[in-house]
This record gives sequence, C-alpha cells and structure tokens, in this order.
Amino acid sequence: MATTVLDHALINHKLSIMRDKNTNTIVFKENLDEIAMLMAYEVTKDLPLVEYPIETPICKTVGKKLAKQIILVPILRAGIGLVDGFRRIIPSAKVGHIGLQRDEETLQPIEYYAKFPKGIEDAIVIVVDPMLATGGSASATITSLKKRGAKNIHLVCLLAAPEGVAVIEKEHPDVNLTLAALDDKLNSKGYIVPGLGDAGDRLFGTD
Ligand code: PRP
Ligand code: URA
Repeated sequence: MATTVLDHALINHKLSIMRDKNTNTIVFKENLDEIAMLMAYEVTKDLPLVEYPIETPICKTVGKKLAKQIILVPILRAGIGLVDGFRRIIPSAKVGHIGLQRDEETLQPIEYYAKFPKGIEDAIVIVVDPMLATGGSASATITSLKKRGAKNIHLVCLLAAPEGVAVIEKEHPDVNLTLAALDDKLNSKGYIVPGLGDAGDRLFGTD
C-alpha cells in the first residue's frame, strides 16, 4: 500500500542516541521505548473506529472506540524491544511472537518459533522489528502471518536499507510499511549503513 518515513524531529533526536556506539544498553532501551511510543501514535492515527453511545456528566453523546483487535507481532529477538512502548499506547493489544534468525552466511531467515493469539484473521496485525535490512526476516514473517489468515498487516521498523524496502514493496505490496528513518545501503555482511549495529546485541547486551 504505502511506505512512510516518519522523519520526526524527536524520533531523529532519539535515534541518533541509539546509533551512537558509545550508548549503553540501558540508554539504548530507554530511547527505543520512547521511539516505539511515538511510532505507535503515528501508525495508529487512521485505524478504523466504531461509534457507541456514552453519557458525559453533561449529556448523552456518541463515543468512538477501536473497531478491531490489534495484534503486535515482534520478530524475535530484537522486535521485543518495541513491544513495551507499543503496549503503553495500546494496552488492549495482544501479542504474537515469531522467531526468525538470519543464517549468518546465506542471510536467509530461519523460523524457529511461532505463536499467535486467536482472531488473527480479523485483527489489525502490526509486525515490529527495529531493523529491515535485506527484508528477508520481515517478508518471511508476513508470509507466515498471511498463511495463518492475516489480511490487515502493518510493518513498523526503526531503520531500513533501500534493499529491504524494495523487497517488502515487491513481495507484499498490500502491507503498510512505516519507518523512523531510511538509511543509505547494506554492507557486505548485510548490516544497515550507517545503521546502529546489531540491534539484538545492543538491546540485550550480548555483544
Ligand atoms: C535482525 C533484526 C531483523 C533482521 C533483519 O535480527 O532484528 O529481524 O536482523 O535482517 P534482514 O532484513 O536481513 O532479515 P537477527 O537475525 O540479528 O536476530 P536477533 O534479533 O535474534 O539478534
Ligand atoms: N540486523 C541488525 O541487527 N542490524 C543490521 O544492521 C542488519 C540486520
């Protein structure tokens, strides 16, 4: 459907702190939480609503509530880092998990875990992962969700390489892609340049 690069002053400020190699795990996670909240606010702005009757202290009127269940799907591991921020903004969201790891030589994603809430067919599914590099992990996740019946899928990533964006736009043109920033390219090891390094390692302190 569409690719949106938020290019938001506050997000860019926080993203630069995350990119800095001297930023420690604690500050990295704090900034990721804050960016996740800001991105959640942006990607939910046009979600469908239904009207229902309410009564204010003054009179009867019409309220609005989200029309559909929201299901967040973090791609393990690093995607987990975006869940807290999203759930603070959308506390009613359910969470499914998919475990994909890139084979370090072929860069191909290997699925090692998948568990989703019921009702994925009618839900708005928001796949979250900080990094969209070759696009292999996100594309395989979306394919897996579609096989399970998901129809309304959004993909939210902090950083992307143009190569990864092209893969999602080609393989999943029905998916809305939202990025905090679009970087320059991939390097020969499949890392985003300038990027922020290995998101999972920086988030969980495993480097
Ligand atoms: C990272 C990242 C994405 C993937 C992106 O995960 O979190 O899932 O790489 O790369 P791609 O677009 O080329 O598929 P990684 O495989 O390093 O696993 P981890 O989260 O467990 O560290
Ligand atoms: N995965 C990461 O964690 N970082 C990159 O730059 C690319 C893939």
